[in-house]
Amino acid sequence: MLYQLARPLLFCLDAESAHRAGLALLDASHALGTARLLASAAPSLQVRTLGIDFPNPVGLAAGMDKNGDHIDALFDLGFGFVEVGAVTPRPQPGNPRPRIFRLTEAQAIINRMGFNNLGVDYLVENLKRRKSSGIVGVNIGKNFDTPIERAADDYVHCLRKVYPHASFVTANVSSPNTSGLRNLQQDELLDNLLGELARTRADLVRSSGRHVPIAVKIAPDLDDAGIDALAERVLAHDLDAVIATNTTLSRAGVEHLPNSREAGGLSGGPLRVRSTEVITRLARATAGRIPIIGVGGIASTADAMEKLRAGATLVQLYSALVFQGPALVGKIVAGLAQSR
Ligand SMILES: Cc1cc2nc3c(=O)[nH]c(=O)nc-3n(C[C@H](O)[C@H](O)[C@H](O)COP(=O)(O)O)c2cc1C
Repeated sequence: MLYQLARPLLFCLDAESAHRAGLALLDASHALGTARLLASAAPSLQVRTLGIDFPNPVGLAAGMDKNGDHIDALFDLGFGFVEVGAVTPRPQPGNPRPRIFRLTEAQAIINRMGFNNLGVDYLVENLKRRKSSGIVGVNIGKNFDTPIERAADDYVHCLRKVYPHASFVTANVSSPNTSGLRNLQQDELLDNLLGELARTRADLVRSSGRHVPIAVKIAPDLDDAGIDALAERVLAHDLDAVIATNTTLSRAGVEHLPNSREAGGLSGGPLRVRSTEVITRLARATAGRIPIIGVGGIASTADAMEKLRAGATLVQLYSALVFQGPALVGKIVAGLAQSR
């Protein structure tokens, strides 16, 4: 209701300023204790996966809180888990603005943020400082100027730094906005990266006694053979989950809309069907051996159920929050609880 009042004002701003203003409003309502009213408790939705008890299966997708500045406030909305990042070893400004565009008619977003973030050390301080005990995943990437052949060094650096403070870690090899990054989804680059992550994790388990799950986040633009090959490698390296999917380079169905020619990844409504197809394929390829986290175009309880039925164990969303506001999380959680 409050968001219905705020939305016309937020939509007068460019998308990135609206994003900042929306998060500032959320922090303010967290401080006042009002945001918590949106959350919906649903004990029947508890899910145990990755060795973790999730209070419900609906999470925040990576990219909204790149630096972990808003973790406590985001949990007020009723998320079962929150993924922060993407974070890189060193701070970097990302691409020049404007770099986020709304395609309101399609409830979609195009972004080419380019991993703008304040660096992993800053994020770690925020993880240490948070008050909520909710489940927090950390999405990690590489700096834009690290050559792709050295990418694994950046991922390993971030994994080591966030490991003591993260519930799970996501290797993001699917952002379209860092040149060459998606090549990490294939062949020797993928094998090398996953091998380095698995070896580093084994070290960290030995030294800390804690096993932190590692997920790999994939693009919706892989073909079936690419999905199968990636799943096979994730299983071979004993990694723990796949997140499907990141944003798409496709513009199918939105070509006629203003902003559709902007470079970057498309998310929201037009991504929904493709991301569900990828989940279906992955579910077949992994045959239940590791969980799938489904993300892409979820804007209702029915959309969340579609992903769960396709084989996802958990789901995440981002773009629909921009169009429907923060009450959407509680609505989806309540809807899922009712359908049990
Ligand atoms: C502005 C913006 C920034 C994003 N940044 C990241 C990111 O840093 N890392 C990542 O893995 N995904 C990122 N994503 C992708 C989302 O996590 C998600 O996979 C995608 O948007 C599809 O979900 P949705 O349709 O619910 O938005 C970003 C998406 C948007 C819209």
